[in-house]
Amino acid sequence: MKTTGRPVISATGLFTPAESISNEELVESFNAFVERHNARFADEIAAGEVEALQPSSVEFIEKASGIKARHVLNKAPIIDPDIMEPRHPERGNDEISLMAEIGVAACQEALERAGRDVADVDAVLCAASNMQRAYPAMAIEIQEALGIDGFGFDMNVACSSATFGIQTAADYIRAGNAKSVLVVSPEITSGHLNWRDRDSHFIFGDVATAVLVEDAAIAPTEHWDILGTKLKTVFSNNIRNNFGFLNRSHPESREDADKLFVQEGRKVFKEVVPMVAKMIIEEAERLGVDPQGLRRMWLHQANTGMNRLIAHKVLGHEANEDESPTVLDTYGNTSSAGSIIAFHKHSQDLQAGDTGLICSFGAGYSAGTVFVRKAA
Ligand code: COA
Repeated sequence: MKTTGRPVISATGLFTPAESISNEELVESFNAFVERHNARFADEIAAGEVEALQPSSVEFIEKASGIKARHVLNKAPIIDPDIMEPRHPERGNDEISLMAEIGVAACQEALERAGRDVADVDAVLCAASNMQRAYPAMAIEIQEALGIDGFGFDMNVACSSATFGIQTAADYIRAGNAKSVLVVSPEITSGHLNWRDRDSHFIFGDVATAVLVEDAAIAPTEHWDILGTKLKTVFSNNIRNNFGFLNRSHPESREDADKLFVQEGRKVFKEVVPMVAKMIIEEAERLGVDPQGLRRMWLHQANTGMNRLIAHKVLGHEANEDESPTVLDTYGNTSSAGSIIAFHKHSQDLQAGDTGLICSFGAGYSAGTVFVRKAA
């Protein structure tokens, strides 16, 4: 078949873990940990040698972030005040790894929705904030599990990974190097979150998403034309995780907290909102799209306040839930998967010709935009 070099989104897939932690459950376990900690170090606290920990609050979490619950792959140890981290049983090399397993589930849904035979898929890009191991690439394991004859590799641009993956896949289509590419984002963010840190313990959740990017020539009738993609990075230490193969360590002590997710939330808020809004408006202009005429924005799901501000700057008015849907309430921040979950769950009702924007942003700093138009 003759290809067009025109990339489209043929379908998306979503895997949602069965278990979920409500803010009430999370705060109850966090506050039990705080009480135990303060009792254990009562003398040191009284002597001014150790700082007393402060309790968390359901009201604060909801007001500051819009998050009411988050799905996780392994709830019990996370909300056990004596553990407060996920504990996944080790799997043998002959068993599928956890990250690949949930990635495969999301890919299968995308393939099914597109009516796509795996024999037609050329590549798998695993684009996520954290990889379960250094190598072999998660993407290659997912490729193998799905039975795809082609190639795969991992890419990490933190919360922007999925949109960077979509542009990479789109570029393969544009160049004629592939006609069907799966971009999969299995985000087991519960593993990089410091569940003992009051400032951020409520932020993240686990999920996996998949986006099937294809040449228009082979796409199903119902698809989304990709009008344009744009990526941007600017170095910042305000969202950082120092974990790496040169410093293998574990979060048993608070001294090791920088080997997990840390952020200067206020600075992130202040610096990322204008950067992203400006990028969206400039890219819309370049593509000849009226930003104020966008039918829907599927924004990165980190914080409802950030999304409200970005959407307002782009649309020129306060966005309602229909224009800028949120999945934060039930999923929390799922890193790069967030905007794809929003797109997956809130795009079926759009009409042919409607234009929308998938946009992600986060550590790096990084940001990616994918303008799409419903074809049929
Ligand atoms: N429970 C109760 N109170 C808490 C709390 C908790 N869990 N965590 C912090 N607080 C308190 C603080 O101690 C502070 O008290 P003070 O005013 O007496 O000093 C107050 O609440 C405000 O804290 P702050 O951290 O400044 O909150 P915030 O309003 O900036 O909200 C974030 C925090 C993280 C939700 C917000 O900054 C944010 O969303 N930033 C962007 C994050 C983001 O998108 N990151 C990208 C990750 S990919």
